[in-house]
Amino acid sequence: MTKTRLLQIGDITDRMRDALSEHFDIDVLFDQDDRAVFLAKNGAEYPAILTNGHWGVPDDVAAATPNLKVVSSYGVGYDAIDADAYARRGVKVAHTPDVLNDEVADTFVMLWLAVSRSLIPSDRHARSGKWETEGNYPLTRTVQNRRVGILGLGRIGQTIADRCEAFGAEIHYHSRSKKDVAYTYHDTAKSCAEAVEVLVAITPGGPSTQHMVNAEVLQALGSDGLFFNVARGSVVDERALVKALQDGVIAGAGLDVFEEEPKIPDALKSMDNVVLTPHVASGTHETRQAMGDLAVGNLTQWLKDGTVKTPVPECRDL
Ligand code: NAP
Ligand code: 8YV
Repeated sequence: MTKTRLLQIGDITDRMRDALSEHFDIDVLFDQDDRAVFLAKNGAEYPAILTNGHWGVPDDVAAATPNLKVVSSYGVGYDAIDADAYARRGVKVAHTPDVLNDEVADTFVMLWLAVSRSLIPSDRHARSGKWETEGNYPLTRTVQNRRVGILGLGRIGQTIADRCEAFGAEIHYHSRSKKDVAYTYHDTAKSCAEAVEVLVAITPGGPSTQHMVNAEVLQALGSDGLFFNVARGSVVDERALVKALQDGVIAGAGLDVFEEEPKIPDALKSMDNVVLTPHVASGTHETRQAMGDLAVGNLTQWLKDGTVKTPVPECRDL
């Protein structure tokens, strides 16, 4: 029996490949020597694409796949996929919501504790022998009973709020709509930043949130303020962030995502009050397995009955 052709963009796990190989003939875009020639020859034969939040569906692939029926993304954020255009064409786009909420919220907590309690410099103090030669490490700032602002109180934002409650936080948030929660709503990011000491971005990326955190918002956060980004690099004006950190406009930052991944500005790498992680918020074996199973499940369900388990909102009515 001939299998359905699937175009794979980006890395997948062995478990995903094994499960998909039963049903699909997989071609890996990045294995091709000449991508343009490959797409011109094969593009029209793919009804299905498997990609991730980083690569999405690049323009050349979108243009070369006129017979596409389904896109499954291994990740929840889909700003690199033109879901509106696909919905208009009747192409189903699926993603992996919810299964990574805890991991991403834990990553925020890890960054928050690391920045507030100076984990990296204090580890360096211990390893370098400075404890013996220079004495005790300076005192740090507690994460208890802080005013915390969450930009984007969605699935992950709410999970972050749950974690913050355990630290005795007073919670503020900004999102497009006010929620039925006991936290304080702000209709702008600036007003949210003004009210808090700790600000975390967890909105989607894309044009509507582009540079939501800019120089003005960082100024509003203030010189004792800490900023965290576990959303998308595009949500923050990175140049303004670097300047705010250099000038003491804010006190520190914890960043998992960057504007030009995998590039990180050198200025950030040299700052002791900044903790950097390379877009690993969902990157545990357990959570990636759950995401992978869901990304595969979306494709196998589509093969069976033409539907997907977890469509993006734009494609829910297809
Ligand atoms: P979600 O449930 O859709 O929540 C998104 C939240 O952002 C909602 O509260 C939404 O407000 C708000 N929002 C959307 N557009 C906005 C705008 N223009 N202005 C203000 N608020 C806006 O999504 P999620 O599952 O929590 O995921 C959020 C994002 O996290 C993903 O899209 C992805 O980019 C990022 N992420 C990053 C990693 C990582 O590895 N660092 C991992 C997973 C996810 P309303 O509720 O009012 O619509
Ligand atoms: C993934 C993410 O690492 O789910 C998301 O939106 O950013 C991460 O979980 C990303 O999709 C790349 O695979």
